[in-house]
Amino acid sequence: MSANGRPETGPATVARPRAADSRPTGPDNRRTSTGSVLEVENLSVALRTSHGIRRAVDGISFSIGAGEILGIAGESGSGKTLTALSLLGLLPLGARTSGSVRFEGRELLGLKRRQLREVRGKQVGLVSQDPATSLHPLLRIDVQMTEHVRAHLGFSKDKARQRAIEMLTAVRIPDPETALFAHPHQFSGGMRQRIAIAMALACEPRLLIADEPTTSLDVTVQAGILRLLDRLRRERGVSVMIITHDLGVLSSISDRICILYGGRVAEYGVTPAVLGTPRHPYTEGLMRSLPGASAAGAAMVPIQGAPPSLDSMPGGCAFHPRCEWARESCRTTVPALRSLDDGRQLACDVDPLPARPAQVSPVGRS
Ligand SMILES: Nc1ncnc2c1ncn2[C@@H]1O[C@H](COP(=O)(O)OP(=O)(O)O)[C@@H](O)[C@H]1O
Ligand code: SF4
Ligand SMILES: [Mg+2]
Repeated sequence: MSANGRPETGPATVARPRAADSRPTGPDNRRTSTGSVLEVENLSVALRTSHGIRRAVDGISFSIGAGEILGIAGESGSGKTLTALSLLGLLPLGARTSGSVRFEGRELLGLKRRQLREVRGKQVGLVSQDPATSLHPLLRIDVQMTEHVRAHLGFSKDKARQRAIEMLTAVRIPDPETALFAHPHQFSGGMRQRIAIAMALACEPRLLIADEPTTSLDVTVQAGILRLLDRLRRERGVSVMIITHDLGVLSSISDRICILYGGRVAEYGVTPAVLGTPRHPYTEGLMRSLPGASAAGAAMVPIQGAPPSLDSMPGGCAFHPRCEWARESCRTTVPALRSLDDGRQLACDVDPLPARPAQVSPVGRS
């Protein structure tokens, strides 16, 4: 068990057979003793705010297997981006991390900047939440992609160009040779996102972290990006950590899902189980607020209230002001994250949740 009493490893890796499982994975694909490419344990991130030091990420643990897609979900402000940035040493100045982040068995927390730069881009690719930071608006695509590859892999100019073309082809950019000579603004939002993914993959990282990769894209483009990520993990065995506030996105693509609220894990497990039969009121609320996720014809039900800010984090269970099942003890006691029989982890003391009366579809009323 970890220091905070939480189990050290996540639920068992999804049993669904994958092409990646049987593929030779190459000498670089070292896994930890538990078979995970990434193991995050009891990770905390503290930031300085105008009200003092606040924990924006508070003791979270998860793991990602080879060729696996892990979804990190939660509303805005739940700590998703800071979690991703902390893995790669990209936190804002003054932020403090604790816990453990092991990538292919190597501890990343505490590495020197130079060592982390080596890991970033080469072994772990990041598609950042802000597209402006993924692609430089004034530089041609070839400059951005080849410099990146040459710096990390020491390739010649020609070889780096070949790699750039190969990656643009892999993410299905039409006419990649011409695309290399264009600037980012000459592409649509969806194409720019594909190019950002191609850049992140150019050094053949073992892990791709994609922070809100489909936000602001229309549904058709979004579906294309998701298919692309799924194909990359199947064909190249890349592990993917996909961060989003949209559970609909994760339901179709992730093997496991980790739901964050107020910087803590609310529920974590195999995606079909967590989203199919949510056991945490927050997960259930997120599902009920998805258009079309509730019973056919029933209206979507948004979660009441808004997520807390760092400076107004409620005591006890951070979700209690918005939770319809909250009891008195929820105001004062932080629920422990515990493992359930089906392998998921749950941080709620009310389990099972009381049954809801069957919803009457407005369409069905006479
Ligand atoms: N540089 C920062 N300084 C102070 N607070 C921050 C900073 N970056 C993020 N936060 C706060 O930390 C919390 C988690 O942020 P973030 O990880 O970006 O959330 P998410 O990606 O889930 O929307 C939020 O309350 C956010 O306002
Ligand atoms: S611990 Fe209490 S407030 Fe928190 S989600 Fe469970 S029932 Fe709701
Ligand atoms: Mg974010």
